[in-house]
Amino acid sequence: MRKLRIWLEDRLGTVPIFTFLRKKDVPQHKHSFLYYTGSSILLFLGIQIVTGIMLALYYQPTLKEANASVARIMTEVPLGWIIRSIHSWSSSFMIALVMIHLLGIMLTKAYRSPREATWMSGVFLLVISMLFGFTGYLLPWDDLSLSATKVGTDIPNIIPVVGAWVTKFLRGGEDVTGDTLTRFFIFHVCVLPLMIFLILAVHIFLVQKHGMSIPLEAERKKEKVKALPFWPNFVLRESVAWMVLLGVILTVAVILAPSLGPGADLMAPAPEGIKPEWYFLFLFQTLKIFPAKVFFVTGEALAVLAIFLVVAFLFFLPLIDTRSLEKKGKIITWLTYAFLFYAGAMTVWSLL
Ligand code: HEM
Repeated sequence: MRKLRIWLEDRLGTVPIFTFLRKKDVPQHKHSFLYYTGSSILLFLGIQIVTGIMLALYYQPTLKEANASVARIMTEVPLGWIIRSIHSWSSSFMIALVMIHLLGIMLTKAYRSPREATWMSGVFLLVISMLFGFTGYLLPWDDLSLSATKVGTDIPNIIPVVGAWVTKFLRGGEDVTGDTLTRFFIFHVCVLPLMIFLILAVHIFLVQKHGMSIPLEAERKKEKVKALPFWPNFVLRESVAWMVLLGVILTVAVILAPSLGPGADLMAPAPEGIKPEWYFLFLFQTLKIFPAKVFFVTGEALAVLAIFLVVAFLFFLPLIDTRSLEKKGKIITWLTYAFLFYAGAMTVWSLL
């Protein structure tokens, strides 16, 4: 074994990586639970890859077969129902954790220098994670998923100049059809995975390069923060978190397996109560509450503009709040709470 290890180390040049990991420390303080969010997202991403590949072995992305192949996965393929359920629940858990990860970093101001690029790559990861959810929603091809995709892909249409083109590009034509299904499948299993791997590699590299942030008070008082060796202590604690999360996801997936509606009919009118996934509800409700017209502009166009501005604000946040790490940044803290309150209220409103 020793000879094999040395042979591999010589060929792969892994010695500096393991030396780095052995020396790496993780600060311990009252916010250190936030450090577990990033690795927990990785767990759910891993689950998505494994269960996604298993589903793709049986799923058929065609107008005729999509719904029937999902029905077969649920009723005929051994353990297919639980694999589908885990895939569906794990996507929700992953997006919830990405949001908690982002909000935690906003509150602790860990996006400030030198972690600006880490944050910006994170905003891309958030958008990609949500696009995974959006494209995956259509794949079972039932009446609700078809209608929700019609509504969702119609939104870019509101944007002047490029909007109509974006809608047509997403749909592969004027309307949502079998061509949209083919496109969404390719985005879901090919384009988005490639993008997430690429950006995640940059994100993780930057996290390693800059080390973990410490609380603002410690920065202010130039205090030395207690630290835990990454290997094996922190990894052991992370493994415990992973085991608990695995237990939770398995339990939820067994008890609450997702249903499947009847195959979508392109000619049928939209069913009652079209709703996107829970993480899009606050955006969906935002689009609804704008008045039909404000002066010469449609309310929907204003809502899309507002959402776009919030995403741009998020992306450029480290360039807007450029204060040094020891400053409190109360405005951003309040903005984070205000956003949380708004998103929560809009979600509940939409559900009601
Ligand atoms: C697929 C999604 C994501 C994955 C897998 C991921 C993964 C990670 C991991 C493993 C860490 C180190 C441990 C930790 O702090 O939790 C980390 C740190 C960080 N992430 Fe993410 N992340 C994702 C999304 C995001 C998003 C959406 C943002 C913000 C827009 C973000 C910004 C950051 C920052 C600034 C750090 C450094 C935190 C510090 O030093 O305290 N990440 N991420």
